[in-house]
Amino acid sequence: MSDVAVRSAEPADVAAILRIYNQGIEDRIATLESDPKDMAYMEGWFREHQGRYAVLVAGIAGEIVGWASLNRYSHRCAYNGVADLSIYVDRRFRGKGIGSQLLHAIDKVAKANGFYKIVLFTFPSNQLGQGLYRKCGYREVGVFEKQGILDGRFVDVMAMEKWLLS
Ligand SMILES: CC(C)(COP(=O)(O)OP(=O)(O)OC[C@H]1O[C@@H](n2cnc3c(N)ncnc32)[C@H](O)[C@@H]1OP(=O)(O)O)[C@@H](O)C(=O)NCCC(=O)NCCS
Repeated sequence: MSDVAVRSAEPADVAAILRIYNQGIEDRIATLESDPKDMAYMEGWFREHQGRYAVLVAGIAGEIVGWASLNRYSHRCAYNGVADLSIYVDRRFRGKGIGSQLLHAIDKVAKANGFYKIVLFTFPSNQLGQGLYRKCGYREVGVFEKQGILDGRFVDVMAMEKWLLS
């Protein structure tokens, strides 16, 4: 889609970020989280995502339709250059290129903010996510078998990574 604008998230965007995140939780394809989040949770999350740990939003005609964030990967200083990625697109807008635009933009922000690598954790069954990540240069590191529990069942989790300095 060509009419998508990607920019840094602002406090006024938190309600839309929450709505889209809760869709991802409800769909059971994106995260081990199973309970919907509320504004207090998302506002706290947003306060922790300042400075290097940026949040980008994608908008169409003023409506927020997706977001991506750089999250802290580890509290160990040795991993200060590694960011963990989250990305969520509104159900109505998936498969239309918005995730690609968000990932392209977040690469640039990550480099500018001093990260040399982005890692992410995804379900091997998440076809759309896999397509997006591989297209955007992420490689599969491996699959943790029975790594998490979702709705009382063990699920596999795939680790992927992208080196930013080449
Ligand atoms: C995963 C997600 C972020 C991808 O964003 P998106 O906007 O839907 O992805 P895009 O439209 O940019 O597609 C990217 C690539 O995926 C691939 N793709 C598109 N549709 C696909 C499909 N139906 N099946 C498999 N791969 C597909 C293509 O390679 C596509 O690139 P192309 O359009 O240049 O060919 C989004 O679908 C989403 O929010 N899903 C629910 C939450 C989620 O899974 N988050 C990730 C948690 S790890």
